Amino acid sequence: MKTLIGPFAQILPMTGLSPKGTLHDEQLTVIEKGGVVVKNGEIVAIADYKSLLQKYPDCEIAFQDTPLVLLPGFIDCHTHICYDGTRNRDYAMRIAGKSYLEIARAGGGIWDSVTKTRIADAVTLAENTVARANRHLAEGVTTIEVKSGYGLNLEDELKMLRAIQQAGLYTPATLVPTCLAAHMKPRDYEGSEDAYLQWILAELLPVIQQEQLSNRVDIFIEETAFSAKAATGFLQQAMQQRFAATVHADQFSAGGAEVAVNTGALSADHLEASTEKEIALLANSGTVAVVLPGASLGLGMGYAPARKLLNAGACVAIASDWNPGSAPMGDLLVQAAVMSAAEKLSTAEVLAAMTVRAAPALQLKDAGQLLAGYAADMQAYPTADYRDILYYQGKMKPTLVWKKGIAV
Ligand code: NIG
Ligand code: FE
Repeated sequence: MKTLIGPFAQILPMTGLSPKGTLHDEQLTVIEKGGVVVKNGEIVAIADYKSLLQKYPDCEIAFQDTPLVLLPGFIDCHTHICYDGTRNRDYAMRIAGKSYLEIARAGGGIWDSVTKTRIADAVTLAENTVARANRHLAEGVTTIEVKSGYGLNLEDELKMLRAIQQAGLYTPATLVPTCLAAHMKPRDYEGSEDAYLQWILAELLPVIQQEQLSNRVDIFIEETAFSAKAATGFLQQAMQQRFAATVHADQFSAGGAEVAVNTGALSADHLEASTEKEIALLANSGTVAVVLPGASLGLGMGYAPARKLLNAGACVAIASDWNPGSAPMGDLLVQAAVMSAAEKLSTAEVLAAMTVRAAPALQLKDAGQLLAGYAADMQAYPTADYRDILYYQGKMKPTLVWKKGIAV
C-alpha cells in the first residue's frame, strides 16, 4: 500500500547538489507545497502535493495540517555512543583549567572509559546504545555510525561490537558499526605499538569478519595514540582484509589527514589542527573531511577549518563525535548550527554536511537524499521556512521523524 504524506510547506530533497566544495542556499531545490509517496519503507515519488494526489488516487493519506519543512533524516557518521560510565570528573577538571596530562594522571581520559566499559556487561552496553540512538532518532538522526574502542582487548572489543549489533535490533535507527580497537595502545598490553596493531589485524579482525560485526576500521593518529607511520601500514593491511577505513585525524596535531588521503580512507575526522597542506590534500581527494564541532565545544577548543575546507573544494560532513570524554552533549544539530555561525557556513553547506555529504563517509547508497528508490528516512520541522532550522541554532527540533516510512 502506498501512502501520500503531506502537504509540506517546503521539501528540501538535498538532491542535485555538487558533492564537494562551496554551496549557496540558492542552489537548494525547494519544493513548495510538496508531498512524498512512500511504499514498503521506500520513497516512490516526491513532487507537488496536488499533482501526487492526482497521480496516485488510491494512496492512503497521511495529511499534515500544520506548516512543516521536510528534510532527509540526518546521518551522524562519527559517534562513540556504546560506552558505560560518565567522565564528568574530567570535564570538571578541564573547566578548572587542568591539562590533558593532569587529567590522565588523575585517572581520566579514554582509559577511564575503557575501565568502566570493560566492567559493564553486554546487555547494559546494548541498552545504553539503544537509549542514545533513540534520543538521536527523535532529533532527526536516522543513521548512526557507532565505534567500539573502549574495550581494547579481544573479549571487550567483541563485547562492544556484539552489543552494537544487538542494539541495532532494538532501535529503529540504522547503526553502522566500526572497529576502533586502535583508539590507543591499552595500558595493559605488553608490547610495542606495532605489535598491538598487528594483533588487531591478525587476531581481532578475522573474528569480527566471521561474526559479521563490522566491515570498517578506525585508528586515532596522534602523539598520544598511534604514529602516522604505524597507522599507514595498519590501514593498508586492514583494507587488504576488506575493511573500509576511517581515521581520527589532526585533532591536536597534523599528520593524520595525510595518512587518510594516502591510504584512500573513506573519511578523515576531527581536523581541528589541519593546516593549508592537509586542507589541499583533502580537497583534492575522495576522502570526506568530517568535522566534529561537539569535540571543540566539549574541550573548549577551536573548530576545524570547515570554511577553508569548503572553499578549497573538499567534501565536508559534520558529525557529533558523541562520546563520554570530549563530546558528551550529543546534539548534532545544535553543534552544527553553533559551528556554522562561527565558521560562516551556509544553510545549504550545513544541511548537506549531515545528509548527502555524510552518506559517502559510510558508503550509503540509499540515504541522505529524498529521491525515488531511497529509504524513506525523513524529518519535519515545525516551520514554513527552512532557514529557521539554523536560525534557532538547533533548539527547534523535528516534530515528526520517519524511519523507513514509519513515523517514530
Ligand atoms: O573522537 N580523539 C579520540 N577519541 C575520541 C574521544 C574519546 C574519549 O575521550 O573517550 C574523540 O574525541
Ligand atoms: Fe571520535
